[in-house]
Amino acid sequence: RSAGRLSEAALNRSLPPKKEQACRCQPLRAVQKTMAAAVEAPVLEAPAVDYKHSLLAGREDYDKMYKRSIEDPAGFWGDIAKGYHWEQQWEDDHHNHNFDVAAGRISTEFFKGGRTNIAYNCLDRHVQEGRGDVDCLLWEANDPGTDRRMTYSETLAEVCRLANWLRAQGIKKGDAVAIYMPMLCELPIAMLACARIGAVHSVIFAGFSPESIASRIQDCKARVVLAASAVKRGKKAIDLKSMVDKALDVSSKEGFEVKKCLVCHNASSGSGKEVTHMKDGRDVWWDTEIPSQKPESEVEWVHSEDPLFLLYTSGSTGKPKGVLHSTGGYMVMAGTTSRYVFDLQPGDVYWCTADCGWITGHTYLTYGPLLCGATNVVFEGTPTYPTPARSWQVVEKFKVKQYYTAPTLIRSLLGSGNEHVTAHDRSSLKILGTVGEPINPEAWKWYSEVVGEGKLPIVDTWWQTETGAHMITPLPGVFPAKPGSATLPFFGVAPAMVNEHGHEIQGPGEGYLCIKQAWPSTIRTIFGDHDRYETTYFAGFKGLYFSGDGCRRDEDGYYWITGRVDDVINVSGHRIGTAEVESALTLHPKCAEAAVVGYEHPIKGQGIYAYVSLREGEALDDALKKELVMTVRGNIGAFAAPDVVHWAPGLLKTRSGKIMRRVLRKIASKEESQLGDTSTLADPGVVDQLLSNRP
Ligand code: WTA
Repeated sequence: RSAGRLSEAALNRSLPPKKEQACRCQPLRAVQKTMAAAVEAPVLEAPAVDYKHSLLAGREDYDKMYKRSIEDPAGFWGDIAKGYHWEQQWEDDHHNHNFDVAAGRISTEFFKGGRTNIAYNCLDRHVQEGRGDVDCLLWEANDPGTDRRMTYSETLAEVCRLANWLRAQGIKKGDAVAIYMPMLCELPIAMLACARIGAVHSVIFAGFSPESIASRIQDCKARVVLAASAVKRGKKAIDLKSMVDKALDVSSKEGFEVKKCLVCHNASSGSGKEVTHMKDGRDVWWDTEIPSQKPESEVEWVHSEDPLFLLYTSGSTGKPKGVLHSTGGYMVMAGTTSRYVFDLQPGDVYWCTADCGWITGHTYLTYGPLLCGATNVVFEGTPTYPTPARSWQVVEKFKVKQYYTAPTLIRSLLGSGNEHVTAHDRSSLKILGTVGEPINPEAWKWYSEVVGEGKLPIVDTWWQTETGAHMITPLPGVFPAKPGSATLPFFGVAPAMVNEHGHEIQGPGEGYLCIKQAWPSTIRTIFGDHDRYETTYFAGFKGLYFSGDGCRRDEDGYYWITGRVDDVINVSGHRIGTAEVESALTLHPKCAEAAVVGYEHPIKGQGIYAYVSLREGEALDDALKKELVMTVRGNIGAFAAPDVVHWAPGLLKTRSGKIMRRVLRKIASKEESQLGDTSTLADPGVVDQLLSNRP
């Protein structure tokens, strides 16, 4: 049996004929080969695990709840939402949505009329219910031996101090605040402080280049930036503040002034305050400004549909999109998925290895676990430093119960010796999770057998920045897992698998993964560009949210995600738009044109393969290759650096001038025997040229 990948024939069939394309939606491209779901991959049986879910007795409970969640979303979510604090009750008909462009503006509303505050629900609620002394954040520095504990009361006090400072800068409800920080306690604190006063945070992963920081700051007009001095990742010290300085200079030249930059001195980076450049009047230190603030601050009760945060993510085309999430629905779904998928209960020690710079760090590090009252590990370092045993040392040290990571990390660990794992006591572990990309059977097996000793459930959670929370995911102990399958939809999620005409496929099959009706944490808009929002997600298939992923559904109704079907590649769980890398490459004066595709990479899942054609008279030597890679690093960030640069004297173009990525992908994957039809190429000779020219 094949383990869930769109076959080549199916995906060629699936390419929508041009004239039938609904509107401005990007054409779907061939599904990229994903490791998880390669047809050749053996289908593993998951070991039977003995896990008792604290809320669900079994499949029947799930089926019953799931049915109600789809048939009566307002009632289902309304009942769940009562578990949170609302300053003002929502209206009776609080839930509406429209996913059909023909029927008017695309919109989603949950808990309309209700007023709440997510930071209050994450912190104050627990303190008031007597859990103020429970550990909230357990911080582990990059270098072993340095750590920090903060209880719920202490975290709340710090959030209030920062909230007061933000207010003193004139930040009000609805204003955007940019955050550029490494994984310190201050990062979730910064997010919560914004939420407390109704400000909209925009966290920028502390690996983005100054250019990327500048464009994000300007897009949402953030007048205040919360930053940190520096960070050590593994052995490498990185000066973060100088990146911010450059970004603010760029912004300033482009006419946008950031008024204040609050800088958290990160002592664990090894550098003293004196080496950090501070601009008079603009830059101030966290440790001189914040401690003197009052540890209480008023809560801004916001409407359920008021924005909570913006998070930029890559799409098929153009610049990154500011995905906007609103408050009430996001809160309820973040809390509910955390509660059910990780079976998270107050005081559970939970560790999500993601960075708050990505959606996983928003929903499953900051908000979801704190809504559940869990004790959250915040890890500054890299899981393989100083040795590949670091993850399991931390698990042992804090007695972690739920551990949530990405397949790329599992793949990088599985090659480095099981003794690193087995030397550490992992008896505290109860649930293992993965996210970000399909998990290949080999990685699944190692995770299950070596880390979990065959005894732990694995939750392979499929979701996206846009979905805000888990969408298709196992529930531990509730239904059997199948390695490589994200299994069944979460409550309130109605997947539709459609063919190229948007017709829903019933039963087993392969197709494009869409969602039929709104779930509470549906992306509400792309900040400042509602048209692009409608075009990107809703114009492709009538009445449906289109995820950009392909999938297969088996005879048990289980979903197997096969990966992106658009020009987004997934490198170590990071979404990268090929168009962004291409435009970064062409910023180099010697690069005339570039085409970027993904290829299978043993650790990263996908690697970045760049074809470049150079200006007249230029040749690609090692020095130029390096410069091209540096151009991408400088413009996007190190994580987007191409792994392979292939000199393409001519790019493969059709007679109508379109780059034939399908063929470029085959060449990058060394599958030139399966190039398929190349008759529409303007110059078929280019294929041979590329093949003889491999780097
Ligand atoms: C991929 C990360 C297979 C998918 C939460 C999706 C996955 C993209 C899984 C979103 C999974 C995420 N199995 N693929 N369990 N989880 N993906 O926005 O292609 O950074 O569209 O959100 O990651 O990436 P994003």
